[in-house]
Amino acid sequence: MKKRVGIEALAVAVPRRYVDIEDLARARGVDPAKFTAGLGAKEMAVNDPGEDSVSLAATAAARLIQQQSVDTSKIGMLVVGTETGVDHSKPIASHVHGLLKLPRSMRTFDSQHACYGGTAGLMAAVEWIASGAGAGRTALVVCTDIARYGLKTAGEPTQGGGAVALLVSETPDLLAMDVGLNGVCTSDVYDFWRPVGRREALVDGHYSITCYLDAMAGAYRGWRQRAMEQGLVRWDSKLPSEQLSRILYHVPFCKMARKAHAQVRLCDLEDATASGPTTPEARDEAAKSQASYDAQVAKSLGLNARVGNVYTASLYLALAGQLHAEGAALANQRIGLLSYGSGCCAEFYSGVVGEKAAERMARADLDSVLAKRERVSVEEYERLMNLPYDAPEAIAPEPGTFRLAEIVEHRRKYAGA
Ligand code: CAA
Repeated sequence: MKKRVGIEALAVAVPRRYVDIEDLARARGVDPAKFTAGLGAKEMAVNDPGEDSVSLAATAAARLIQQQSVDTSKIGMLVVGTETGVDHSKPIASHVHGLLKLPRSMRTFDSQHACYGGTAGLMAAVEWIASGAGAGRTALVVCTDIARYGLKTAGEPTQGGGAVALLVSETPDLLAMDVGLNGVCTSDVYDFWRPVGRREALVDGHYSITCYLDAMAGAYRGWRQRAMEQGLVRWDSKLPSEQLSRILYHVPFCKMARKAHAQVRLCDLEDATASGPTTPEARDEAAKSQASYDAQVAKSLGLNARVGNVYTASLYLALAGQLHAEGAALANQRIGLLSYGSGCCAEFYSGVVGEKAAERMARADLDSVLAKRERVSVEEYERLMNLPYDAPEAIAPEPGTFRLAEIVEHRRKYAGA
């Protein structure tokens, strides 16, 4: 019998401050509806230099271990997905390994491909366990990033930051993955990039949306073909994508999930062999179905709307939000997940929600993770953005969290937890 492998539990860490997106719009002289209705945002996480991608990753991983009573002696692999690493050579994974005092007998590495790096790491872990090479051990996959475009840029309202830690095992209480069904699509494009030495990303914003939708279509069609071969979906009165209970997307800003969902539906409508809308206009209209979006996507976006973009962690924040909102109702149901990384690579995969998902999510205590945050003014947000990255303010870490304390001769020292 095939092994059941997937995500057993997760934990989330976010910066302790956020800015209200309407405050930001007003400060920029923009109609707030552009950021709320137009981009789908409500709040945006604001980090200070003490909350770098290492401290957020270590906080999420420590929280996962503590909340879910993880047996660290069984962890055989630690992968960090990130596109905002802090060193060209030393991985964030080794920092996390040291800060959490994890056993030495494990494989540790970072995985980088823009926002896709976390999913690449997750698949390495899942396939390691599924192959039997893990020999009963578990894997810790941490997605961590600070999304930063800069003050007064078009990307500014789509910034954010945070980390999601995932425990991968043969007890997939959150999501048993359909190993091997994944559809992938790659192309060499310059849609979003961050040259070495730059703090802010460069992005060709509208083109990046086109690249996302194009790669996603290839990935979805690849998954659909394999899912059909295995009889998991079929051409029916319902479209194949409608046969998934929910579909979660990479969420650079919430409106993107709506565009992505319309694209998945358009793939089905274009390829459908049975009767359906016959003109391109009618297909476009049917693809944008509000009812389908409300039923399959809307509830996954609660956390993303309040945190903003978290690059590698965005899809996993959507998974957390979805299971937080509907973990019990989705037990034993198949959901789809779409990961996108600029540059670019997209991957569509699926899995079945576990019966203990609601219980596991209750332990993740996401309401209090967000409730502890402090709303700051736009002036304070701008002050934090302008602080040098290598001189963190001397603030005592909250209990259970890590902070960058200082950098001495290029060596990063962390305090806390
Ligand atoms: N009321 C309501 N809606 C309004 C409005 C108003 N007053 N004014 C504008 N809008 C709507 C627009 O119609 C538009 O909606 P549609 O896309 O549905 O037409 C939306 O608000 C945004 O308006 P614009 O397109 O004019 O916004 P913009 O040009 O200023 O920038 C952006 C938008 C390109 C997304 C920019 O924020 C950006 O570059 N963000 C970073 C790049 C990004 O997130 N790309 C996503 C794909 S790449 C990826 O996914 C990887 C990753 O994580 C980065």
